[in-house]
Formats: sequence, C-alpha cells, structure tokens
Amino acid sequence: MEPGDEIIVTEIEHHANIIPWQMVAQENGYELKYIKINDDFTLDLDDLNEKLSSKTKVVSIVGESNLSGLLPDIKEITKLVREKTESILIIDGAQLVPHRKIDVQDLGIDFLVFSGHKMLGPTGIGVVWGKKEILENMEPVYGGGDMIEEVFYDNATWAPIPHKFEAGTPPYVEAIGLGAAIDYLNKIGMKNVESHSDDLREYGKKLFSDIENVNVIHSSAEKAGCTFGMYVENVHATDLSLMLDTHGVAVRSGHHCVQPFHRKLGIDATIRATAYIYNDKNDLDVFKNALIESISILS
Ligand SMILES: Cc1ncc(COP(=O)(O)O)c(C=O)c1O
Repeated sequence: MEPGDEIIVTEIEHHANIIPWQMVAQENGYELKYIKINDDFTLDLDDLNEKLSSKTKVVSIVGESNLSGLLPDIKEITKLVREKTESILIIDGAQLVPHRKIDVQDLGIDFLVFSGHKMLGPTGIGVVWGKKEILENMEPVYGGGDMIEEVFYDNATWAPIPHKFEAGTPPYVEAIGLGAAIDYLNKIGMKNVESHSDDLREYGKKLFSDIENVNVIHSSAEKAGCTFGMYVENVHATDLSLMLDTHGVAVRSGHHCVQPFHRKLGIDATIRATAYIYNDKNDLDVFKNALIESISILS
C-alpha cells in the first residue's frame, strides 16, 4: 500500500474495527472512509459502490452489528469489491460467527476474524482465518519463539503458516476452551442456533416496535441479528439499565464501542438487549414489561 490508498469500513463499525485502521492510516498516510448507514439502519450499498476505486486496498466490514443487528449482504459486497478493486475484504465476525453458519468460501472473502468470548468460549483468544496464498505472502506480525524455521545472528527464516503468526507460547488453555465451545455449538447445530436467533428477532421486532417513548435502533432488513439498541427521550441509558437490573433484567448501557455512530445519531448512550441460545420469548416479554415499568418510574 502507498500513502493516499484507502481503507473502507462502515459507519456502525465497532471500535475494534476503527481504531486499528485509524492507527495504520495515521502511520502510513492512508485514508479511512466510512460507508453510510441508511435511516432504517441498513447499509447504503450505493455509497459503498461510489467509494470503491483503484485506491481502495482494504474493505473491512462488520458481519453483524453489535448495536442494530445489521447483517450486511456479504456476497453482494464481495461482488462489488471484486468488480471495482483488488482490495482485501475482511469480515469482522465477532457477532456473526456465534449466531450463524458461515462458509468463507461461499462468501468469497479474504479474512474472517472472531472472538472466543462471544461464543461461549474463554476470553483472550480469537480466530483469524485468512486465505492461504495471502497468509503465505505476508510477513509475521510479531516476533518470538515458535514462529521461526532458522535463526542466525543477523537474520531468520519463518516457519510455515500458521506458526509464522503465532510467536511465543500459545494460549493453549484458552484454545482447548474455545474448541470445547465450538464442539458444543456444533452439537446444537449452527443452523438451529441461527433459526433460534431469527425467531427471537422476529418476535422482538414486533414486541418492541410500539412502546411509548422508546426509540429502537434496529435494522429493518428481512434478516438481522437478535440485538436491539434502544434509547428513551429524557431518560439516561445508565439509569434505565440500573432500574431494569432491579427487575432481574440485564442489559448493557453506554456506547457499546460504537461511539461514532451514537454521535452521528446525536445521542450519547443507549441500552442494548441481546438474546442468545439460552434466551426464549418469555425473556423478551419480561424485558418489555420491566422496560415499561422502569420508564414510568424514571420519566
Ligand atoms: C462487532 C464486534 N467486533 C469486535 C468486537 C471486539 O471483540 P473483542 O472483545 O474480542 O476485542 C466486538 C465486541 O466487543 C464486537 O461486537
């Protein structure tokens, strides 16, 4: 890459997918561009298409939003990126992989990254999947033991992938834990995990659509994750989350590491309700009732 080259992400990107690119861009003179989100919290693919050019060297997109449940059409994005650029296409699967069956070859992407702790596994470990030919042509990111073939006083040669990228003693305890979590999810069946998420999302979408004074930040697309960001005029998200806690309902409050998107919406904080395999429709009913009661107390 050269100074002036461009990296494209979305406006609803997690900080994990903004900060590292900002750092790389600042260090090397690259430009960071953001694909717009439509008013109904879907991705503006026309905007992406306009931004793609021969200068685009990296497109890095959240596979499932941790705020709005947005599920971008990855295959369509791959098509647009391949038509207009020779860019590398990376999917941030931190939310996507725990909830959906993913076929990297079918999606046609170059890299997929995801975290262990969002899929019932341990913290401090995640997965970087990359196309073999790209990884083989990349230099190591870290240096240390275990990533070498031969070391001399003035140079070294690298071990084959994946070892080239795994300097030092690996977190094998965490790797075994993550393996057990993956086995557990596979036993349930990722198609079952996915349809459970879709059922709850359909239910929640209707359930939360007409609560007085509640603004829901949720993708209007046919498919989305079961993640509902919300804010209430004149009630702070932190107060609301504390009140919900007294009803036994745990939501997260704050900017959820999507602070620029909150800024764009002109709000400083939201609450976020998410559901996974251990939740059912009754949990969403309990949440709705607690929400209505909490708002009536706080407003
Ligand atoms: C979409 C998304 N990307 C990245 C991350 C960051 O993952 P980690 O907590 O493993 O750094 C998160 C979670 O916080 C996320 O929701």
